[in-house]
Amino acid sequence: MRIKEIYNLAINMGIDADFRGRKAVENILERKRKKYEKLSEKEKEFFDKEILKNPYSDSRILNIAEDKEVKRILIGIDIEPAEILLAKELGKIDLIISHHPLGIALANLHDVMDLQCDILNMYGVPINIAEGLMKKKISEVARGVNRLNHQRTIDTANLLDFNLMCLHTVCDNLAARFLKDEVEAKNDLIRVGDLVEFLKTIPEYKKAMKIGAGPKIFAGNKENRCGKIALVEITGGTEGSPKLYEKMAIAGIGTTVGMHISEEHKKEAESANINVVIAGHMSSDSLGVNLFLDELERRGIEVVPCSGLTRISRVNKL
Ligand SMILES: [Fe+2]
Repeated sequence: MRIKEIYNLAINMGIDADFRGRKAVENILERKRKKYEKLSEKEKEFFDKEILKNPYSDSRILNIAEDKEVKRILIGIDIEPAEILLAKELGKIDLIISHHPLGIALANLHDVMDLQCDILNMYGVPINIAEGLMKKKISEVARGVNRLNHQRTIDTANLLDFNLMCLHTVCDNLAARFLKDEVEAKNDLIRVGDLVEFLKTIPEYKKAMKIGAGPKIFAGNKENRCGKIALVEITGGTEGSPKLYEKMAIAGIGTTVGMHISEEHKKEAESANINVVIAGHMSSDSLGVNLFLDELERRGIEVVPCSGLTRISRVNKL
């Protein structure tokens, strides 16, 4: 596979797994295209045309040093200059993939967070409330990433002639879809403890338990009943607004499953009586990345995992 084919496969898989559905995602792209067409020539010059094809602002090809057939990749949750040097040391790496966004994908991370509004709406939170509360959080994230040195790792890849891309929400969508389907297929997840025990049967979380990073209850306790379990915090860029917990409770959500949670969010969840199960950050990121890597493995690409990625292959089990 060539770099662009790997990228297109990832975007397509991300759309297929997207809770909004392919049609809704295509409508969003169409809306962006119409807006683009109305821009002046000067405005078009600085317009990022990639967003007309790729609905995930945090997933991008970042550097093409040499457009070649990719046989072996180095992939990690966070790729920094150290991992680029690692690739050089290892040798025979045709492409480096970071899960967390870098460069323009990091600068525009906030643009993917609209997805959370639709997911919340899907679980019963009125869209006006979801949009109103997320708007503030999205602008905070945009300001927060603004100060960062976005290009540092890309500059290193460029100097050392490495191909580089990042695949964030596309992989998080795969993890969210997988977990939603698994949780909804079970009808015996009555108590929060049952949900945690069930998560522990998923290989990525089982491995995480051995290094002290397994699924944990951050709000509520194992004897609490789950009520409606919502997968609202696995995909969509980064944490949403803490004020949403109260609205989620009103919408009938009893328990959320997330990757990680801040203290402020935890407190809001507790005061809204929402149980929060934190599946784990690196393990949940690994789950989504693994589901994508299985497709690369099926196409004969060798995978070298690094930087927090626990590689579990499901290829031979199918
Ligand atoms: Fe992450």
